[in-house]
Amino acid sequence: MIQAQIERIDKLEQQHILPKEELITLLDGQNEALSAYLFSRADAVRRVNYGTDVYVRGLIEFTNYCRNDCYYCGIRRSNPNASRYRLTEEEILGCCKEGYQLGFRTFVLQGGEDPFYTPERIEHLVRSIKSQHPDCAITLSVGEHDRETYQRWFDAGAERYLLRHETAEDAHYRILHPPELSLAHRKQCLWDLKSIGYQVGCGFMVGSPGQNSSQLAEDLLFIHELQPEMVGIGPFIPQKDTPFRAQAPGTLEQTLFLLGILRLMLPQALLPATTALGTIHPKGREKGIQAGANVCMPNLSPTEVREKYALYDNKICTGDEAAQCRNCLSMRMKSIGYQVVVSRGDHLSRRSK
Ligand code: 5AD
Ligand code: FES
Repeated sequence: MIQAQIERIDKLEQQHILPKEELITLLDGQNEALSAYLFSRADAVRRVNYGTDVYVRGLIEFTNYCRNDCYYCGIRRSNPNASRYRLTEEEILGCCKEGYQLGFRTFVLQGGEDPFYTPERIEHLVRSIKSQHPDCAITLSVGEHDRETYQRWFDAGAERYLLRHETAEDAHYRILHPPELSLAHRKQCLWDLKSIGYQVGCGFMVGSPGQNSSQLAEDLLFIHELQPEMVGIGPFIPQKDTPFRAQAPGTLEQTLFLLGILRLMLPQALLPATTALGTIHPKGREKGIQAGANVCMPNLSPTEVREKYALYDNKICTGDEAAQCRNCLSMRMKSIGYQVVVSRGDHLSRRSK
């Protein structure tokens, strides 16, 4: 049995995709021995492409106002217990300045879909950051918008965009989201971003309510079709004020297994070991790197607002200063034989030779 699974992993490494049925069989066969083999292959592939470098992105969670109502998310509009905040442009520039001194060369501006932050305001923000830090990359993660808006931000200097697709199967999308949101539109956004020229990141939660290996296989097939530069995955973690408060969280083991699979599918991808992974296990991010990830995204938001960006419960690092997280991460990576580097950390296809 295990031999057949090992051959499947080898085939995945060579062909970067498997037929749906085989993906399902591989996912269903996850166990410790198979994981160990998968991670050793994923680590080898990552080393060929990116060595043991770990890229850091300074995450600035600049608003937790959101017009959407996703059932899993703690900042959904109908959560009356969310204590809402938005940072001003000046405050965001302050975070970038501090981040730059700490060695960050990518800033990720993440927020809910906040009507206050109009396309004009975000454009202004992007231009301001770019003018102060021309050697830095800007990643936007502000949800679904029309193509013209994405184009306008790209023209202003944003070069990357994160928009998790959350699930690639319609029926599952319906379980996770209210009827006004659609998977077709979400996917359209990703295709628009890609055709504009952004380095694009999609992704999904592992172990979200209603998920099974058939849907996970659909996620992998969609990712293979999209060929994103980045893929963000992390375990689903219930948030106490959401309809999913009593649902079981995703597991460390399955998240790591999927990271390993993603590394073999997309050898050059930038794969974060996410904060959610660090939240479900004290060594989650280290294990994520060892399973094939090569990015970490520590928080640069002011400590006063950290706790308020509560997508899920018990999020790590909410009490730590940016500098503490930066040092902590360097030590964590060093402890497993990797190193945090001062670099924009572009996708290999976007680097000048
Ligand atoms: N658990 C884990 N991840 C979550 N996200 C939102 N809510 C949760 C949760 N309860 C993820 C979504 C979103 C990203 C910003 O955070 O995948 O795209
Ligand atoms: Fe934040 Fe370790 S990364 S305290």
